[in-house]
Amino acid sequence: MLVLGIETSCDETSIALVRDGVEVLANVVRTQVARHARFGGVVPEIAAREHVVHLLPALRAALNSASVELTSVDLIAVTERPGLQAALLSGIAGAEALAIAAERPLVGVNHIEAHLGAPFLARSSLPQYPFVSLVVSGGHTHLFRSSGVFQHELLGATLDDAAGEAFDKVAKLLGLGYPGGPAIQAAALAGSPNSIALKRPLLGPRSLDFSFSGLKTAVLYTCFGQDPTGRPLPSLKAGTAVADVAASFQACVVDVLVEKARRALHRTGLRRLAVGGGVACNRPLRDALLVMAAEEGIDLWHAPPAYCSDNAAMIAARGFEVHRKRGGRVVPLSPAPRAVWPRLAWAES
Ligand code: KG4
Ligand code: ZN
Repeated sequence: MLVLGIETSCDETSIALVRDGVEVLANVVRTQVARHARFGGVVPEIAAREHVVHLLPALRAALNSASVELTSVDLIAVTERPGLQAALLSGIAGAEALAIAAERPLVGVNHIEAHLGAPFLARSSLPQYPFVSLVVSGGHTHLFRSSGVFQHELLGATLDDAAGEAFDKVAKLLGLGYPGGPAIQAAALAGSPNSIALKRPLLGPRSLDFSFSGLKTAVLYTCFGQDPTGRPLPSLKAGTAVADVAASFQACVVDVLVEKARRALHRTGLRRLAVGGGVACNRPLRDALLVMAAEEGIDLWHAPPAYCSDNAAMIAARGFEVHRKRGGRVVPLSPAPRAVWPRLAWAES
């Protein structure tokens, strides 16, 4: 089955063609980063308009690169939620139009569940359930116990900012631009991760939840100068280097993510970990998870960078599974936000 995937939940317009949920024939991603950079973050209305501009060129590019016609597509899958409402609706409107024109069924996909499947895209081996899943992106930081394609129980989640959001906010503070993750990673190369002491927000010894919002404030009060009333100034203290702040902040987030993943493995007794989401592109995080996996003797499935950040290949792959589960029955889309995963009671801290 050839599935056309459409992703527009944030600031990437992406179209992909995926066969049978695993074989990626094309994965075109048109980023809008340059349009949002001067605002220091994604502006929802601009994102929605940019999706309208990029959708059809991205579709043509994907069909060309896979050398297939629209008539060969069997199913259209589109991100239904969660995401920026205006941005989602641009993609959904385009997907509905395509589905009518091509007379093909349309399936709505949950973006986070699509990230959960990304570590297994384009791999010959199928996922071996159960395992712990970590999805770490600009909008989400979730730990799950995954026991099947449709069985994901929530172990923990962020109580405030997502990890990627923390990267973006601290990068903005440091004048490193948007998106913050890659900018901080690059700046950190010239810095020392031990130069600035930042407390790891672990929320107690048993918690599987995350809290990153205090980190920005900690960076502000630790690294920036203060006026006589104690309010932070806009510039770093004399002698404090941007590279050192970037490296110390990055090390702090990496430590927390690795520690929570380790706890989740211990508390579930599972021996496998799957990791995806935009922050999973982070090189020091990838390296630290590899070290942890070796220490714990567990299998680690880390999504390749192209499938970590937002992409339509993961949407097409998830759409394939959802359509198969429904036995081909077409269900109307419902883009209203709603939580879908049960939380494991024992995972409460
Ligand atoms: O998954 P994604 O593309 O979009 C959402 O679903 O949110 O994730 C985007 C987030 C942004 O916050 C971005 O700063 C972060 O992923 N990110 C990174 C890196 N690359 C992207 N964070 C840390 N290090 C990176 N190399
Ligand atoms: Zn995402």
